[in-house]
Amino acid sequence: MPQLILTCDPDFNDLALDEFRRDSVYGVPVAELAPGVWLAECDDGFWGLAESWQAKPPIFVRHICPVDAVWPLTATQDDVSVLATLAESDFAAVLEAGLSYSVQTRVLDKTLPYRPFDLNIALSGTLTEATGAVVDVREPEQVLSVVCARLDEGALLRIAFHPSPTTNSGQQTGQLAFLGLSPTYLNLSDWAGGVRRFAREEGQISRAEFKLLEALEVFRIDLPPRGVALDLGAAPGGWTRVLRQKEQFVTAVDPAELDPRLADDNAVRHKGMTAEEYLADEPDEFDLIVNDMRMDARDSARLMVSYAGQLYRHGLALMTFKLPGTDRKRIIEHAFGILGQRYEVLGARQLFHNRSEITVALTGKR
Ligand SMILES: C[S@@+](CC[C@H](N)C(=O)[O-])C[C@H]1O[C@@H](n2cnc3c(N)ncnc32)[C@H](O)[C@@H]1O
Repeated sequence: MPQLILTCDPDFNDLALDEFRRDSVYGVPVAELAPGVWLAECDDGFWGLAESWQAKPPIFVRHICPVDAVWPLTATQDDVSVLATLAESDFAAVLEAGLSYSVQTRVLDKTLPYRPFDLNIALSGTLTEATGAVVDVREPEQVLSVVCARLDEGALLRIAFHPSPTTNSGQQTGQLAFLGLSPTYLNLSDWAGGVRRFAREEGQISRAEFKLLEALEVFRIDLPPRGVALDLGAAPGGWTRVLRQKEQFVTAVDPAELDPRLADDNAVRHKGMTAEEYLADEPDEFDLIVNDMRMDARDSARLMVSYAGQLYRHGLALMTFKLPGTDRKRIIEHAFGILGQRYEVLGARQLFHNRSEITVALTGKR
């Protein structure tokens, strides 16, 4: 059966695998290669599943890539040149020479004596030489995904080895490389395993900033120049800082103090009160409402419904659903049900920077 690798937050394995089983044809997880990284197979294969996820993306599966070839590793430096040769023999003919590409390697078995970078360089070197295709690491149109991992015996029984004269195809255990080529957009994320890292900046206020940056990117949100934004649960002010960098005027609502570095910015108005209290203040209307409040996802959804009249018709909203503990599926469904009174859901994803939560993009119901 055709195989693929799917990646999620390991604390949400259950919900990610539910999505896989629900949306694939006879999907079966085969083995967990590393926490949250699953080798899986389904009748519709990577392409069928990926196409259906274009129409209705999953929330918890962060990244998928196909498995077109499996190769046993020797756990020596020789693997680098062997995989480079394999990349050329198996993928040069199918790589679209007119489109940019990138090799995205994950080395999940940390005992292997090479790093992702070593394989990325070696494999792209041979592929570009063979095809003339241009490497674009930031926005590749196609990706050769390489995952190096160790599998236990039980899991290995289901893997079809790449035929090779030098390989004992009966080999059943050990370290393996999984390779697959796909258009980047089908992988659900442009980044290997969905790991989207941002550089730490001087002046950064909180790690939560990465979460908002990632959400704006994933949901393709362009903020209007000199827009007005409402930040509910703003303290210590990371999201407010990001919104200021994007030239928004920000009303930051939180009973807690904002970072003093925001104090001198007269485009930031701090309302030192709860979101419930601010609503009673007859607030203005906004182009964007963001909500990262630490509260039950359903209560937070109810508050967003109360704030729906404060969003301009063209406006957008972004919120996190905090999902500690159990019963997460029911809580999510309930929160979506509440939001449905006043909002359309544009997207919902568990981002790389989300911890025990998901991020939801909304627009007001017409
Ligand atoms: C995770 S922090 C927000 C971090 C923020 N996004 C940042 O980037 O710095 C959650 C915040 O929600 C605030 N909060 C919780 N309940 C609230 C409410 N009812 N109204 C306003 N803020 C609330 C807390 O005071 C806390 O500062």
